[in-house]
Amino acid sequence: MSAAAPQPLANMGAPEPRMDGRAKVTGEARYPSDMPVSNPAFAFLVTSAIAKGRINAIDQMRARAVPGVLDIFTHENTGDLKEIKFASGGAGASTSIQQLGPEVFHDGQIIAMVVADTFEAAREAAYALKVDYAEAPAAPSFDSPGVETEDVTQLHDSAKDIPSVGDVEAALAGADVVVDAQYGTPTQHHNPIELFTTTCVWNGDRLTVHEPSQFMYGLKNNVARKLDVGPEQVRTISHFVGGAFGSKAQLTPRTGLVAFAARKLHRPVKLVATRDQGFTIATYRAETRHRIRLGARRDGKLVGYEHEGFEITSRPDKYFVAGVEDAARLYAYGAVKTKVNIVHADRNTPGFMRSPPVVPYIYAIETAMDELAAKLGMDPVEFRRVNDTTTDPISGKPYSSRSLMQCYDQAAAAFRWMARDPHPGSMRDGDWLIGWGCATAVYPTHFGSATARVRLLANGDVRVQTAAHDLGTGAYTVIGQMAAERLGVPFSAVKTELGDSELPPASVAGGSNTTASCCSAVMKACHAIRAKLFHAAATANEGPLAGQQISGLTLRDGKVAAEGAEEPLAETFKRLGVGAIEEYAESAPPGAPADAIASLYAGKPTLSGGAHGKKLMYAFGAEFVEVRVHKDTCEIRVPRAVGAFAGGRIMNTRTAHSQLMGGMIWGISSALHEATEIDPVRARYVNDNLADYLVPVNADVQAVDVILVPEVDPDVNPAGVKGLGELGNVGTAAAVSNAVYHATGRRIRQLPIRLEKLL
Ligand code: MOS
Repeated sequence: MSAAAPQPLANMGAPEPRMDGRAKVTGEARYPSDMPVSNPAFAFLVTSAIAKGRINAIDQMRARAVPGVLDIFTHENTGDLKEIKFASGGAGASTSIQQLGPEVFHDGQIIAMVVADTFEAAREAAYALKVDYAEAPAAPSFDSPGVETEDVTQLHDSAKDIPSVGDVEAALAGADVVVDAQYGTPTQHHNPIELFTTTCVWNGDRLTVHEPSQFMYGLKNNVARKLDVGPEQVRTISHFVGGAFGSKAQLTPRTGLVAFAARKLHRPVKLVATRDQGFTIATYRAETRHRIRLGARRDGKLVGYEHEGFEITSRPDKYFVAGVEDAARLYAYGAVKTKVNIVHADRNTPGFMRSPPVVPYIYAIETAMDELAAKLGMDPVEFRRVNDTTTDPISGKPYSSRSLMQCYDQAAAAFRWMARDPHPGSMRDGDWLIGWGCATAVYPTHFGSATARVRLLANGDVRVQTAAHDLGTGAYTVIGQMAAERLGVPFSAVKTELGDSELPPASVAGGSNTTASCCSAVMKACHAIRAKLFHAAATANEGPLAGQQISGLTLRDGKVAAEGAEEPLAETFKRLGVGAIEEYAESAPPGAPADAIASLYAGKPTLSGGAHGKKLMYAFGAEFVEVRVHKDTCEIRVPRAVGAFAGGRIMNTRTAHSQLMGGMIWGISSALHEATEIDPVRARYVNDNLADYLVPVNADVQAVDVILVPEVDPDVNPAGVKGLGELGNVGTAAAVSNAVYHATGRRIRQLPIRLEKLL
């Protein structure tokens, strides 16, 4: 055991090393663009140089003359590509801009694709295309003239009942202390190390798509719709994903285009988009703004909370995240009033990015909470304790479990919070001002529809199949661990297969649902296998288990076992007269429609949880951060961060630790480093590369301690798992910001907090 592989406590699984770890570090792992295809042609995208306007003409003469060029695709010869109508609005829906023109909706829109015998020829020809535009003035962001604001409650059913309870005006009027402040978060881009790639191969009328993806069945079905072919004609494969964070969850315009080109050219086509193209051909985290009013009595009891959010989206799309859904459940607020607006700008459509709703909204409320605690002269941890709740302040429904204060207590003790002098600027080490801050992490527990096939051989070997994804999170490993546990075999006997639409479908690898959903489906399949084995062993005429109560049987160490008696699996298989037992199981959340699994096959997952069930289902954490701010240069360092998290059953303490630590590092990045800068005149991303887009490097990250707090929650799903992929980076930015305030007495309400804002 080590810091990276913590000793499992109650309700936690062993820190098995990642099943795919060796393949990844040795380079054996084949990512989608590594998949060998015969005689590929190479594609290069051409993206618009204006943010708004029309393409008058594209002069292809010089480009077509480049040796090796096979074809050039523009809006003029791709009209057969179908436009997919996604449901409008909601965090799950985005159309992205699908046509290649002639209308241009954002800078970097795909307007053409060149295909050639070599990558170099395709690139050369792409740069030789001459595009004549009629350019219109673009509105890049909130304050630009020409942006249009819409209230999301008017747009979509999912947003109709945005949280509201009681009379906020009256509550705030009667409050002893009120914070009224505005907060802002910047545009962020996922920047997964693996670029956005697509390789398409037609074999007769069958298409295989190799594309890094978080959702095989979604990709398969949507590509089929795009090309107007049957979904049974399309296979999608993505065994590995080199980082996604939400950016590979949905169909984006390139995929249909590459498939279309491959069909026309009768040749496999491979596209690897460039790093800068990735900023505009995929999604990103939208810029947000928040106005919060939060009031409390002198004794610290909250009485009212108002939160209005503004989120940037594209012109044609109505994407929004509406994190007030979760923020409004966090404390016993008293009266609550929320509102969310989207602001249409001349931008590409934003989309999921790790913890999409909660990262910006919880940053805002958790900073406001710290401001109010400071105004009240209360310790921020005690302030949260006074306002802790076991029920939803909006609906009164209970939480299935909520270990927020346990997390605070454990993290505070590890951080030595009790040594904090509450006065801003009071703690120093030489030239460095020391600040200590904390904030809450929260993430809705999602449980999605999923299916799995599990095969057990007489020798104890197990194969688990489900079309889920391991985004680096450990899905291969934890799904395998569930089968090993339920079938009583060593983890090394299990092989997990993921990432192929020929496998039984799983939900989108989003919303941190994969472990909960897939482990629940795997459990169900394993229980069917157990039932067959137990029945055979107990109803046999002879043998050590003959006549045993089935309920008293279990599987362990490759044997069917009862109290004081056992027989090797191979014997039970002989009784059954089979060489393998294979079970397919379907699992859907309670209350899911009867056709939930059929929908999943059709590429539409059903997700439950968060605020939507009979009980509220959320995972919680508490994060503490120390910052040091140089008194003259205002350089900001983060020497240590401590987070304690409770997420129901922890399948694997190593992968859990890794996810949470990575999340906290990303949270530090959100607080201090990351922002996509946009040219206010041309509406173009300025720092669209890994040199200028700041992310933390080793020198920026020092001690990051993760505490796993034991928690048992049988309500969330059969596996009892809450999901940790997106919990860790929620709250960190507020904790850093609150620490900067404690160090300096300066409240910076726009992220990232860079030294120029403190100077
Ligand atoms: Mo994750 S941002 O829900 O793919």
